[in-house]
Formats: sequence, C-alpha cells, structure tokens
Amino acid sequence: MTNKDIHFSKLLMDVYASPTATLKYPNISNWDFSPFGLTEQDLIHSVYLVFDQVLKLPELYHISITQAQLYDFIIDLASVYHNQNPYHNFAHAVDVLQCLFYMLCELGVLPFTNKFLQKSKPQSLLRPKDVFALLIAAIGHDAAHPGINSSNPLATLYNDKSVLESLHAMTLFQLLNKHGIDRLVGDSKSEAYKVVSSILATDMSLHNDYVSKIKEQANRFNNTNSHLDEQDERNLLCSALIKCADISNVARPFHWGTKWAELLVQEFISQGDLEKQMGLPVLPMNDRTKVVLEDSQINFIKFVALDLFQNVANVLNEIEFAADQMKKNLRRWESRKKNIEYEQEEFDIVSNSSTTHMIMVETGIKRSSSSLDLQHHDVKRRPSIEKYPVNNTDDRDAPVYCQCSIQ
Ligand code: CMP
Ligand code: MG
Ligand code: ZN
Repeated sequence: MTNKDIHFSKLLMDVYASPTATLKYPNISNWDFSPFGLTEQDLIHSVYLVFDQVLKLPELYHISITQAQLYDFIIDLASVYHNQNPYHNFAHAVDVLQCLFYMLCELGVLPFTNKFLQKSKPQSLLRPKDVFALLIAAIGHDAAHPGINSSNPLATLYNDKSVLESLHAMTLFQLLNKHGIDRLVGDSKSEAYKVVSSILATDMSLHNDYVSKIKEQANRFNNTNSHLDEQDERNLLCSALIKCADISNVARPFHWGTKWAELLVQEFISQGDLEKQMGLPVLPMNDRTKVVLEDSQINFIKFVALDLFQNVANVLNEIEFAADQMKKNLRRWESRKKNIEYEQEEFDIVSNSSTTHMIMVETGIKRSSSSLDLQHHDVKRRPSIEKYPVNNTDDRDAPVYCQCSIQ
C-alpha cells in the first residue's frame, strides 16, 4: 500500500465511517497512551486526530488547512523518520506529540477536558497559535534522526551547534513550506521562528542551562513581581514543555517506561557496536558489555529528568503528576537493581571463584529485561556496580546517560 493509498483510504473512512470508528485508535487523552503496536497508518491517523481537534478551536479558524493538506503533510513527515531506528522513529515523535497534547489539556490550555484555564496562571501566556506551533514542533522534533552515525558530516554543515536539532528543524521547515503550512504557523517571522527554537531546546547538551532558566522562571512567577518580556516567558514555557515531552518516557506508567528504555539502549549499543567495528572509543552507555538498564534509568531519572520536571512543576503546578509517576518509576528501577544484585551475589557464591573460569552469562540488559531479545555474550561476569559509579551531584554538568555526546 502506498502512502497515497493510505491517504485516500483514510479520507474515505472519514467521510463514510461513523464517528465511533475513531475509537479503535488509542485514547490520546490518556497518560497511559503508547504508540506501540500501532501501524504506520494508525500513527499517522492519531496525529491527524490531534491536529484536527486543535484546528477546530474557534481561535484557530483562520488557519485554513484542508483535511487532504493536513494528511499529506503528516504522511510526508512520517516518511522522513527512519523507522529502522529502535527509538528515534515516528512512534517516538507521536509519543512526544501525545504527551504535549495531554499536558496542555491538564494545564487547561487546551479545552478538551474539564480543566479550566485560570488567567492568573503562567500557562495563560500560551495562546492557541502558540499551541499549534508547539504541537507542530513536537511531531517534527526528531525528523530525519539518523539513529546511529559513523561520522558526523552534519557537524560541519551546522557549525557543530545543536547539529541534530538543527537538522530536525530544517527538515520540518522544508516540509511545512512544501505543504504550504509555514505561512499558517504564524504570520510574523518571530512566531515561525518559535517552532524552530523550541526544537533547538531539545538538545540535551543544553539541558542544565534550561533547568537553570526554568528555576529562575519559577522564582519570578512565585516570589517576585518582576517578569521578563511576555514573549520571552512564553518561549521559555514552550521550551520547558517540549523538553518534558521529549523525555516523558521516564514519567509514563512503568510498563511503557521500560519498553522505551530498552529501545533506547538498543539504539545506543548499536552505535557502540559500530564504533567498536571502526576502532573508535566507545562510551560506557553505548557499550553492550557495560551498560546496565537499571543503572541507566536510575541515573537518567535522578540526575537529568527529575530535576527538569520538578522545576517545571514549580512553574506549571499541574505537571506535578508526571514528577510523581517518575519518582514511583525510580523506586521500581531501584528495587529491580537490588534484586539483580541479590541474584548476582547468589550467582557468585555458586560459581567457581577462579578468575580464569569463563562462564556464559547474559549482559545486564538481558538479565534485567523481560521483553528484549538481545543475544548472549561471552563475558566473565556481569559488570559490577562499582565499575559504573553513580553520578554524584558534582557530575551534574556532564550526565553520561543521555545523548549529550553529539556535539
Ligand atoms: P532525543 O529524543 O533526541 O532527545 C532527548 C534525549 O534524552 C533522547 O534523545 C535520549 O538521548 C535521552 N533520553 C530520553 N529518554 C531516556 C531514557 N529513558 N534513558 C536515557 N536517556 C534518555
Ligand atoms: Mg532529539
Ligand atoms: Zn526526541
């Protein structure tokens, strides 16, 4: 089936099917959402449903975009994602889009639930046209992500600054332009630029800078009367929200969080395998003989994600639910880690203490994952926890468990 066929069958379905037909699509208004198990066609239709709802808002009536135009744009955008990537594929983009949609509903910015927008709250700075731009940024935020790369010619092209994020933003803008949607995103240059700039905020090497800026913003909204220019506060809110959505997998119900973590680690270790083949140095997080799923998630939550969500929740209180879920997930990962350590101790006792005795054990990933089908490896023993010291607060500037190594 070609993309055009998908497009037309969807249009026919929209014209002839009853409204309840859309119920077979996952509930986009649910935090327990996941795109797993959805076909490309279903993913495309889920995205369409989000934008279709938002574009029906009276404040966005002026954005005249036909159903066919919207569908064509989404189909084209889906096709520039590399679906052979375990993690950085169109499903991840859909997940990020749904997360933003959900959070905007919780904040009362989108009126599709019974939450109301209070004028006194920071989120009242977000206007429907900002929301539209932000949702476009979300679905395009990892467009054309290469997954693994053997060299980095893009670095030269984009002057080494937020290389991948610049690629995603440029790819998205080209498609918006091709489909005549760029004019609709905003009538002034600055509004169109906002879409780009919020994608640039997803560069994890800038993570700590953003967390500091958000901390200051919380301080401004909660303790002082001095505010930045409205547009600056608004841009920062957009950056904060897209950043949260981008790493929201660690705040989803644990069953989805583990699946995302496994997929990401698969992508990382494929990168490591390639680097090994090329004789390049390999980061521990990309090294299949070193990475331990539980440690990667405990560190990522403790030293990267929780800080962001808690600070965002100090500005946008309604986001607290996600920080709470993340803390629960952290406890689950910690208890899983304890069980593995216990198993490891048992294993050490029964195994021969001779250091030269080669034994077949599975890597940390396999041992700790129920659904991943990674291969067995000849390793002497599972890497000890001491080998991979937990980051202390002094290491905060250089979290090693996220892809900050791009630059
Ligand atoms: P990307 O989606 O491009 O931007 C955010 C990055 O955060 C993501 O790529 C990963 O590199 C990293 N990240 C997201 N979720 C996790 C996770 N659960 N564990 C470790 N790193 C993550
Ligand atoms: Mg990215
Ligand atoms: Zn992403």
